[in-house]
Amino acid sequence: MRRFLVAGNWKMNTTKESGAQLAKALVTEVPEENQAVEVLVCPPFPYLTTVGDIVNGSGVGFGAQNCYQEAPGAYTGETATEMLTDIGCRSVILGHSERRHILKETDANINLKVKKALDAGLQVILCVGELQSERESEQTDAVLNTQMTGGLEGVDAAAFDQIVVAYEPVWAIGTGLTATPDQAESAHQYLRNWLKEHYSAEIADSTRILYGGSVKPDNAKELLSQENVDGALVGGASLKPDLFIPIIQAAAELSAG
Ligand code: PGA
Repeated sequence: MRRFLVAGNWKMNTTKESGAQLAKALVTEVPEENQAVEVLVCPPFPYLTTVGDIVNGSGVGFGAQNCYQEAPGAYTGETATEMLTDIGCRSVILGHSERRHILKETDANINLKVKKALDAGLQVILCVGELQSERESEQTDAVLNTQMTGGLEGVDAAAFDQIVVAYEPVWAIGTGLTATPDQAESAHQYLRNWLKEHYSAEIADSTRILYGGSVKPDNAKELLSQENVDGALVGGASLKPDLFIPIIQAAAELSAG
């Protein structure tokens, strides 16, 4: 049984104070012995320790939105995985479409970060997803294949207990457009099959594949009830407890059967 993961990607949002309030609200709502759903928040770097201190010992984990592949040294503006683990951070989002398309990260860049983060013992949430034009020209599977192959090159099977894949169609991110449950399920099926072909049936079966792209309380349950959707990576709705908590609850209800 794959455990649902609901992760909030705060992107470049919140202040120190509003981030702290948000984290406190989640800690209050998410039970400490929260077995059914793994809950994670990914604040901006300057607020990681503030949020980390608040969620410490609770049912909510915290993660980063990026990292760099080198050990600490002369890399102005970058953040080492050693710094993340030093502050108790256990997860990192890599390959987010905003980093791919705005910051021009390539699959090769992402792959170096993935390998370094895995070596550091971090949980990696590897994001993949197609542009609208790629979907329209029926290249979705080809894009997913390229991003999975590039992002995971040289990653061996043993690391898969640290890997989560997030399918995030770029056209659905922050746009209010959501993939239909069928569109999501068919991309997730493709990704699970990819894992089976490139790794093994066991890895395909145990690896969680999250959906991301305008997940909201009113579409969460339908998306999460798809067989191959194992959680959500939530942007906009993760910034408001009254939107994020119902998404966590939807996952909890589904895992309770
Ligand atoms: P959104 O963002 O929920 O605001 O669409 C999702 C993401 O980018 O991870």
